[in-house]
Amino acid sequence: MIYLDNAATTWPKPEAVYFAIDSAMRAHGANPGRGAYRMSVEAERLVDDTRHAIARLFNAPAPERVIFTLNCTDALNITLQGLINPNGRVVTGPFEHNAVTRPLHALRSTGVQVAAAKPDGAFGIDLDDFRALCREGLDFAVISHVSNVTGCVAPIKEIAAITHEQGGLLVLDAAQSAGALEIDMQDLGVDVLAAPGHKGLYGPMGTGVLVLAAALPMRPFREGGTGFQSENPEQPTEYPWRLEAGTINLPGIAGLAAGVRFIQSVGVNMIAEHEAALAQLLAAQLRQIEGVRVFGDKAPRTGVVSFRLGATGVALTGVILDDSFGIAVRTGLHCAPAAHRAIGTFPEGTVRVSFGQFNTAADVDALVAASRKIGAAPIGTAG
Ligand code: ALA
Repeated sequence: MIYLDNAATTWPKPEAVYFAIDSAMRAHGANPGRGAYRMSVEAERLVDDTRHAIARLFNAPAPERVIFTLNCTDALNITLQGLINPNGRVVTGPFEHNAVTRPLHALRSTGVQVAAAKPDGAFGIDLDDFRALCREGLDFAVISHVSNVTGCVAPIKEIAAITHEQGGLLVLDAAQSAGALEIDMQDLGVDVLAAPGHKGLYGPMGTGVLVLAAALPMRPFREGGTGFQSENPEQPTEYPWRLEAGTINLPGIAGLAAGVRFIQSVGVNMIAEHEAALAQLLAAQLRQIEGVRVFGDKAPRTGVVSFRLGATGVALTGVILDDSFGIAVRTGLHCAPAAHRAIGTFPEGTVRVSFGQFNTAADVDALVAASRKIGAAPIGTAG
């Protein structure tokens, strides 16, 4: 099987990740931060070391403001529901995923206003429109760094500057960029970063992080035990415990730590180059097939390529790729209807290929050869 769905979750994981999860359960399986005995202290050290590693990876100012979450959607929910006050105003981009649009939609019932900037017609955000919306007032801008549909990269430094000029804070949805592009929170001007652990960071599913540049007065999303101040009826206000209640996902965090070590050993820039090179190769070859439309930059900068194959519907293309060629891609709306509306592919969506560090040019060749056959064959006879 050729796995080309790394934007949904990276697979396979580095061997070290499998090993770390197994070993965390067998050798450090005590509850971190809940005991003074050695195994619990070791477990706590593993969690703490991982916070430091994540903070270093994103150049975040304080490791204690790295919060472990279930995934990127969880990190975004904790942020949006914990920071935005009733009647607040939020400006988003045109390509936001449901992880952003659904929580914001729900917040509208509390009087929160949400305005989305227009696309620029070339798979990017219209920065003039974004600026104009920010000038009408904003508390937060919430922007996806890399579209999970087109792979296009948003100009975050400029977006942060505009947001800050108008007195807002920038929440970055790094679902597709964490581990796949260099992210320096302080240089870019990111106030809050939400990222999955199981995509570009190569950790297991069930892991994610929320990283805060400053100690924002975020309302806790959940309350409960933190292992200290047990007599206090209220959730402690110190980070990370303010936002972390209950037993943490220790095996997941151990796997995430191994994933972060892996990407740092390869180099995030090298990973970015590798994925972009495969996407460029694929986009260029797909464009040579009659009837194929590719939706994204001429020379992709990340590992995502969205396309449609002539008259063959996207769902059918995905089924034939899987059944007849053993190639796994994701088809449809990719939980991002706004992005598909912005690029004119709603409601059918696209066929999306997304590369990871373990893909090779041979995978591109296989996908291109399969696409040629599917495009040339009468529907239902490819293979
Ligand atoms: N948002 C993830 C994707 O694009 C799940 O596949």
